[in-house]
Formats: sequence, C-alpha cells, structure tokens
Amino acid sequence: MKISVVGTGYVGLVTGTCFAETGNNVTCIDIDANKVNKLSNGQITIYEPGLEKLFERNLKEDRLHFTTNLEEGVKDAEVIFLALPTPPGEDGSADLSYILNVAEHLGKILTSYKVIVDKSTVPVGTAEKVQEVIGRYCNCAFDVVSNPEFLREGVAVDDFMKPDRVVIGTRSERARKVMGELFAPFVRQGNPILFMDEKSAELTKYAANSFLATKISFMNEIAILCEKLGADVDMVRRGVGSDDRIGKRFLFPGIGYGGSCFPKDVQALVKSSEEVAYDFKILNAVMDVNERQKLFLIPKINAWFNNDLKGKHFAMWGLAFKPNTDDIREAPALYMIDALVAAGATVTVFDPEAMTNVERLLGSKVKYAQHQYECLENADALIIATEWSVFRTPDFNKIKGALKQPAIFDGRNLFDVSRMQELGFHYESVGRTA
Ligand code: UGA
Repeated sequence: MKISVVGTGYVGLVTGTCFAETGNNVTCIDIDANKVNKLSNGQITIYEPGLEKLFERNLKEDRLHFTTNLEEGVKDAEVIFLALPTPPGEDGSADLSYILNVAEHLGKILTSYKVIVDKSTVPVGTAEKVQEVIGRYCNCAFDVVSNPEFLREGVAVDDFMKPDRVVIGTRSERARKVMGELFAPFVRQGNPILFMDEKSAELTKYAANSFLATKISFMNEIAILCEKLGADVDMVRRGVGSDDRIGKRFLFPGIGYGGSCFPKDVQALVKSSEEVAYDFKILNAVMDVNERQKLFLIPKINAWFNNDLKGKHFAMWGLAFKPNTDDIREAPALYMIDALVAAGATVTVFDPEAMTNVERLLGSKVKYAQHQYECLENADALIIATEWSVFRTPDFNKIKGALKQPAIFDGRNLFDVSRMQELGFHYESVGRTA
C-alpha cells in the first residue's frame, strides 16, 4: 500500500518506518527542511532502540522517503497519517492548529479518495473537525479516521509491531476495509483490531493514559502511607498486583510520572471534562499527587542535612523521564534540580543518553560528568532519578570511595534496603522504611 505520514516527530517516524517494514511504500512529510535532509541522508533524528536498523534497511530498500512537499508527498497515497504535535495551550487544552492547518492544506490539494488518519493524541471531536475543515475545500470523497497510538518511548518499535490492540475509529465501511488490511500484519498473533466510532477511539487514548497515570499516583500515595505506617511498598505492590484484576504492571512507586504524554494527556482530559461542565475529581487528584511526588526526596535530603543545603554538592544519576530514552520532558529530575539549586546546593549530573538534551536546557545551572562514577566526586550524596539498568548493580565500594559521605537518595527503589544498610550507606528510597 502507498502511505504518507505527515510529521516526522517521534510517532511519525516510528509509524512510517514500521509500515515500511511490512512492505508498504511510505513517504514522510515534514516542514522542517533540515530534518528531512538528515533523514533522507540516512541520519536518524530520534533515539529509539531498534528503530535505526529498520530505518536504514527500509531507506536502502527504497520503501521509505522523505519530503517537505505535502502535495507531492500525498499524491499517490491511499492512506495519510497525521502525526503532528498537539502541544498543551496555556489553559491545558490541546492546541490543534498544526492538525487543522494541514487539514486545510489537504482539502485544497486532494483529487482522489484518501483515508486520512489522526494518529496524534487529539481531543474527542477532532476527527469531526478535521472532516469538516477538509470538506470545506475538497470536492472528492475522503474519510477521516481516528487511530490513536499506544507506543511507549524506549519500546516503541515492539509496541508498534506487536500491539496489544489496534483501535480504529471510523463509521465508514470503505475506510474500515483499508485500515483493516493495513494493520492485519501487526495482529497475526490474534490481538484484536477494535473498530469503533471516531469519538470512542479518541477517548480511548486519553482514558488509557489517564488510567495508567492514576495507577502510578495511587501507588505513590500508598508508598507515602507505607512509610508512615511502617509497611514496605514492595511487599504491598506484589500483594496487590498478584490479583489479575489489578495486574502487576505500572504499580511501581517513584518520584512521579513525566514525559510528553501522561502529564499532557491527563491535563487535557481534565480540560475536556471542564468544557462539558464535568469536574473529573479523580484526575485532578492524580495531577496534584504527581506534582508533589516529583519533590518527594527533597524533604528527606533536607532532613539528612539538617535543613541546610547551602554549599552542599549532589551527584545525580539519571535525568531522562524514564530509562531507554533521551527525553527529559517533564522529567522529575529537573524539578529536583530546581529545588536543590534554589536551596543553595550544586549538582553534577550523569545520564547515559540524555546529556545533550540536558545541556541544551540547563546550560551552566549544573555540572556535567562523562561517567557515572566521575559524577560522584566530592558529592555529599548521590540522588537517583531514573532507573537505567547500568545503575542497578553498581560498584558500591567505588560509590563509597567517591562520595564525601555514603548517602544515597533513591527515587526509583533500585536497591535492597537491608543490603544497603549492611554496606554502611545512609539509604532512603520510596515507601520502604530504612
Ligand atoms: C505512555 C504510555 O505508556 C503509552 O502507552 C502511550 O502511547 C504514550 O504514553 C503516549 O501517549 O504516547 P511513555 O510516556 O513513553 O508512554 O512512558 P511510560 O513507560 O508509560 O512511562 C511514563 C511515566 O510513568 C514515566 O515517568 C515512568 O517513570 C512512570 N512510571 C511508569 C512510574 O512511575 N511507575 C510505573 O510503574 C510505571
């Protein structure tokens, strides 16, 4: 099938590459000429495990193309995916201007039937709006479909190639047939393609992310309670998660959820609810809990240093909002750095992948280490903000030797509490009594 993908950001590039991998002929379109140039020359623009290999292969096989020209890029396509940004506006609602602008442009240039697919996370009713905008200018037949993505950064290729489910929102038989064919190779193991109306598909995406964020905030509150009552959240997590109705995944407490999806989507669903005069109480609480959780370690650090962080120096391991990504958007580490610096402390940071992004954002606010152990030199304590695998079994003697005093504040519960005590560390984590 001939496919176009408008927008070569994270979702667009993964979508385009994975569709090429199943034999489709894919053209990706972006207004950023520099990016298009790089991609056309085989230079991948995002970090995502496993993607580069597929990208290189499909580029070489001539199944993957890049252009800045929308008209040329969609001319022969049967399906056009819109993978455009929907940043939060000032009031928290999703800004649809990128999508609606492209819709208008498409309306003006389409000459034959196309299926136009909203892949971006968009508020309920967007497919209808896109349909309306294109229809204003276009005389030929077309359908607008909602097909939300459920990719996780770090495992996006796997999530795309082997999805738990594919959600397709359309009431058009013609579009349903095209989309069913396109996605058939991805659900060979029997996972469902769920056809529904456009609005239900749009809401499914927000509901899924909001539910996952709720799980996290809920466990973060249980962790606080564990500390206050003298229980161990690792035990409670296992006890709770063994119930199939609850499930083991996404119950890990920590220093809050970050990234480009959960914070934005929870906020946007609250906003959409307000617009229809509904106060979504649970989600408001989920956001409040998460805001507080990002600074969960700060009172502990303060207490250990007698409420005086002036002149103290901290090593921070992990800046990315989660492992296996260089993405630092809404990363809890950034909030911690702000609080530490405001209290007069200095911070040296190390992250296996996110250093370039951190330097771009923080400049001289922090110091940068090339290596996880170099990061520890002359630090009064180590703070762990992201659970990268390389931090899981470190050389504790080296850590002890480098720090001024053996203190670790771990926002991701990487180590066993009693082992750390045996090793002579002052060790504090989340929801486990030290
Ligand atoms: C999330 C969803 O998991 C994807 O299904 C969805 O497609 C994507 O948003 C999106 O809307 O595009 P992502 O933001 O890449 O994916 O990251 P997750 O792996 O879901 O992690 C989100 C945050 O939750 C991270 O900060 C992570 O540290 C935190 N988290 C996750 C916890 O604190 N505890 C957990 O048990 C799990």
